[in-house]
Amino acid sequence: MEVVKIALTKGRLLKDQIKLLQAIGYDCNHISPQDRRLVQEIPDKGLQVVFLKAQDVPTYVEHGIVDMGIVGKDVLLEVKKKLYEVADLRFGRCHLAVAGRKGGIDGKRHLKVATKYPNIAKEFFAAKGQSVEIIKQEGSVELAPLLGLSDVILDIVETGSTLRANGLVVLEEVMEISARLVLNKVSYKTKLKLRQIIDEIDLQLKGGC
Ligand code: PRP
Repeated sequence: MEVVKIALTKGRLLKDQIKLLQAIGYDCNHISPQDRRLVQEIPDKGLQVVFLKAQDVPTYVEHGIVDMGIVGKDVLLEVKKKLYEVADLRFGRCHLAVAGRKGGIDGKRHLKVATKYPNIAKEFFAAKGQSVEIIKQEGSVELAPLLGLSDVILDIVETGSTLRANGLVVLEEVMEISARLVLNKVSYKTKLKLRQIIDEIDLQLKGGC
């Protein structure tokens, strides 16, 4: 049986990814990111699953270590790997936004920007002609303007509760984000089963309209 490997993103996207695989006929009851086995198999279906941190999914797909992956558009824009993005899966919807204290950047000509997305931030502010210093963060980005490390953040806003809890507001929307299905370019050309899975996902997405 032809085997296809898929990388799933750990964290808040995971529930919807599993739901999608279940919906197209893959029994995911026995796979889990907590399992010590790093490569897990869906019995009798020829699908192997690896659970990765978001930033690692495009790398594994580009190198063909896995044939396909599910990851947020934010990560794809930030890491810019050579792969095919074939479907907007319509879950994991959120925004990338610039946020800070209300009125906190009034009159400032140069901004310090804390973000997990330095490439997106650089491009966004360059396009506006805004002078910035980008300060790369690994997490808890909202802390930066609170403690004075930065003037603003460029980060994911989903419910907005982290911003509210820290007295910050959205100053500018950057773009909408959602989960995407990505493919290794060689696998796409050579693995029949991969195309079948894409068709099943397409059908599922159309049915879900
Ligand atoms: C993300 C993001 C915000 C928060 C937004 O962080 O960086 O901090 O979620 O979600 P909300 O609008 O629903 O409050 P995550 O939880 O992934 O943790 P991290 O800060 O450690 O990266």
